[in-house]
Amino acid sequence: MKALAFTSTVHNRWKQALSELRLSAEGRVDASFLLRAKEIAQCIMGDVADFSDELNHGEGYVVLTHTPLDASLNITEAAMPVQCISAAVLLGVTQALGFAPYGFKQEKNGALVHPVRPLPGKENSTSSNGRVEFTFPSDGAYLPRDIWPQTLSLLCLIDQSRTATRLAPLNSMMLYLDHAAVHTLQQPVFKHIPPETFDIDGHVATFGPILESVGERLEIRVALHSCISEIAQAQAALDQLENAAQKAAVMHTWRPGAMLIFNNALCLHGRGPISSIRWLQRCYGTKNMRPGTVVDLCRPLKKDLPANR
Ligand SMILES: [Fe+2]
Repeated sequence: MKALAFTSTVHNRWKQALSELRLSAEGRVDASFLLRAKEIAQCIMGDVADFSDELNHGEGYVVLTHTPLDASLNITEAAMPVQCISAAVLLGVTQALGFAPYGFKQEKNGALVHPVRPLPGKENSTSSNGRVEFTFPSDGAYLPRDIWPQTLSLLCLIDQSRTATRLAPLNSMMLYLDHAAVHTLQQPVFKHIPPETFDIDGHVATFGPILESVGERLEIRVALHSCISEIAQAQAALDQLENAAQKAAVMHTWRPGAMLIFNNALCLHGRGPISSIRWLQRCYGTKNMRPGTVVDLCRPLKKDLPANR
């Protein structure tokens, strides 16, 4: 893990620079917003080589604190509008670290910035809009490798609930997995089921492995709450993996303006139940597409779609 706390001087300079940015009338992010947010974040952060290295080759997560926030936050707003300055921080830092923010047409209509906040009627869903405990997904585990999120960026607007995000780095989890389980988890016998937040049929669930050798390292891809296997040995390996995630997990507590970026192939994540007001903003990151790409899961992937969100 690598951490960076911005000083008040840098925080204020960043906020001042971002004050020029505006969301569209519909509250969305366009291409010029994305580009300017990136330029400003690069200027503020300077050399990010150590942080990129940690994300790509280390335990896989980076923590930034004291980033700028919008002056006011309407916490009773059911529509959960994107917050302009914090969205620019989220999208700018993600790009400065080498990842392009993107979205899916079937998830929140292609929005790049997602509210992670309990939603009326969704309280009992194990999703970014639920209140119940949510243990250890890697987001988009059922998606093809070239379009699944390589990073997740989360930025805290408010957390009166004091609900930490749990991160389980794969290299720590490996200490709790035996050789047979590691072998089984590399077999394509696991059924990955799409989450509720995607507006697609459950029948597009895919079969695949959970651990994959990519180059010199192992990567992990599983949402433990929505992955099953009908093979007893595979189910036992899944149980061992969940136990390993629980043991390896580190707690990331939130303060407004804190940001967490993690590699979705090197860390599982989760959280406990949410008892009060908690609102994070999230974006996905990838190196496979241009910033602002909106992937339509009902069509073959067209790379480099124009940025219009
Ligand atoms: Fe998630």
